[in-house]
Amino acid sequence: PLVTTKEMFKKAYEGGYAIGAFNINNLEILQGVVRGAKAKNSPVILQCSTSALKYAGPKYLRAMVEAAAEETGIDIALHLDHGPDLEAVKLAIASGFTSVMFDGSHYDFEENVRRTKEVVEYAHAHGVVVEAELGVLAGVEDDVVAAEHVYTDPDQAVEFVERTGCDSLAIAIGTSHGAFKFPPDYEPQLRFDILEEIQRKLPNFPIVLHGASAVDPETVEMCNKYGGNIANAKGIPVEMLRKAASMAVCKINMDTDLRLAMTAAIRKVFAENPAEFDPRKYLGAGRDAIQKVVEYKIEHVLGSANRL
Ligand code: G3H
Ligand code: 13P
Ligand code: NA
Ligand code: ZN
Repeated sequence: PLVTTKEMFKKAYEGGYAIGAFNINNLEILQGVVRGAKAKNSPVILQCSTSALKYAGPKYLRAMVEAAAEETGIDIALHLDHGPDLEAVKLAIASGFTSVMFDGSHYDFEENVRRTKEVVEYAHAHGVVVEAELGVLAGVEDDVVAAEHVYTDPDQAVEFVERTGCDSLAIAIGTSHGAFKFPPDYEPQLRFDILEEIQRKLPNFPIVLHGASAVDPETVEMCNKYGGNIANAKGIPVEMLRKAASMAVCKINMDTDLRLAMTAAIRKVFAENPAEFDPRKYLGAGRDAIQKVVEYKIEHVLGSANRL
């Protein structure tokens, strides 16, 4: 069924694992993700950015996700990713989303509190949970370019959660959006000291990690082998994410890894079968590749297998 993240996060927190939040934009991506979750008997969060809503249409997304929940019987939350304002949140809620993110991380603290609180009041009145964000991820945070990490301050996180009433909080501890998270010679690091302090000061409160794709070098290599040109891609080491999932982190966002896997698979079909022009052949290969990634994440990153 379609559910909110409340129970999912409670069980994940207690069980020392995290729920995967995968971005969906079309039928094949959605099916790849839910097939992976179903195969591993895992709950899953399907999330749509505002550009995904624009691309596919909220009604299509909602109807497809409902069909997926009905067909698989697994627990699925439908979540707005990086909601920029109350209007976007209202549209998502009107379209049947069970969870929304309001991303006010680029505002100053007081403005972020004020806007988040407004969203929380509206969403809670409609039975919808709210993820907020404090701290700025390095790299490109939607349209906002953050040249450097602004790690989340644990004391500010406590005050923010108390004042806004948000249900979960995305924090900045060294992850970053996209396929080019770090310079090639940089050793990725997560600030587990900050996560630990937040966990200690906000007991039982679910934490979210954005920008958590691992950017598998072999998948990038496969894209490039079959005609792609993706240079200097770099992600977050899987062991670090697994450790975060065992702690207060209850939701881990991944989009880039799905994009890379789908692209590599489609490129391979095109390169090896130049005469092929049935979209089901290449989109189907992309869908299978996404399912594999999701199964791998559930086993090796999230720890959410058999938690339904
Ligand atoms: O963090 C952003 C997600 O990867 C969604 O990206 O806005 O291109 O759909 P998008
Ligand atoms: P990646 O770009 O690392 O996959 O992060 C996705 C994300 O945070 C979506 O909100
Ligand atoms: Na966890
Ligand atoms: Zn994100």
